[in-house]
Amino acid sequence: MTPSLQVRFSSVQSKGKTAALSAAVFVLTLACAPVFAGVEEGRAKAAVCGACHGVDGNSLLPNIPSLAGQPQQFIVTALYMFREGKRVNEQMSPFAEKLSNADLKDLAQYFAAQKLAAPTTQAAAGTVEKAAAITQANNCVACHTPSLVGQQHIPRLAGQQQAYLLDQLQKFKAGTRPEFDGTMTSAAQALQTADLPLLAEYLATLLVP
Ligand code: HEC
Ligand code: HEC
Repeated sequence: MTPSLQVRFSSVQSKGKTAALSAAVFVLTLACAPVFAGVEEGRAKAAVCGACHGVDGNSLLPNIPSLAGQPQQFIVTALYMFREGKRVNEQMSPFAEKLSNADLKDLAQYFAAQKLAAPTTQAAAGTVEKAAAITQANNCVACHTPSLVGQQHIPRLAGQQQAYLLDQLQKFKAGTRPEFDGTMTSAAQALQTADLPLLAEYLATLLVP
């Protein structure tokens, strides 16, 4: 907060509750301004990502994840992992290598602000019932949130590409998917290998509320 803003905020605040509220809204609007700037900066920087992830972050390729609506912090974390060579993929890594910290933030803000397209297929009723029970029993919902849209550094799973989800789950289970804090590799150990395709199908066809 700049000094002039601080003076304005406290002087307005002293005039009572309504004034304090409008001051808070005023400050909040200012605090949000860089976010919109970041989205616009990010849009330009994201042009190069579009060939694989879709210009609006909706991937049309089975082995490439959609980025639309992912939590901003997760995107920053994932890009950081690729940039630092801690997570490696021959298609993705070259695009992360030269990104600055500002690029990470702008790209994350842009993709987080995009709307995920609704899934075009539905899972069989039996799959939904069984997979939903697995996500409850294994606390997937505790970390990835009840609607599986992700939070903070934890990704959205709902509506993600099915083949990509299956690949990632298999790698976490095998202990070969590097991650930021190790929590997901532990979570995957309790899963049965035969349940992974069920989970991927269920998650990919979940509508983001
Ligand atoms: C040539 C294709 C390609 C391009 C271009 C590309 N990516 Fe990727 N990206 C991938 C693939 C493939 C993966 C999945 C890697 C894996 O399997 O671990 C990925 C993964 C990611 C992830 C992790 C998503 C998740 O759910 O774990 C993020 C974030 C990401 N890319 C952002 C970007 C950004 C931002 C750009 C542009 C600067 C970009 N990518 C350009 C292919 C690409
Ligand atoms: C203790 C918290 C925690 C639990 C429980 C958990 N996850 Fe995760 N999960 C994470 C975190 C954190 C990541 C991000 C890892 C990274 O890339 O650094 C992740 C990543 C994933 C990914 C990769 C998605 C992507 O876009 O790259 C999949 C798939 C996934 N989790 C599925 C599941 C399923 C299914 C369950 C339940 C069986 C589960 N998770 C339980 C924390 C958790």
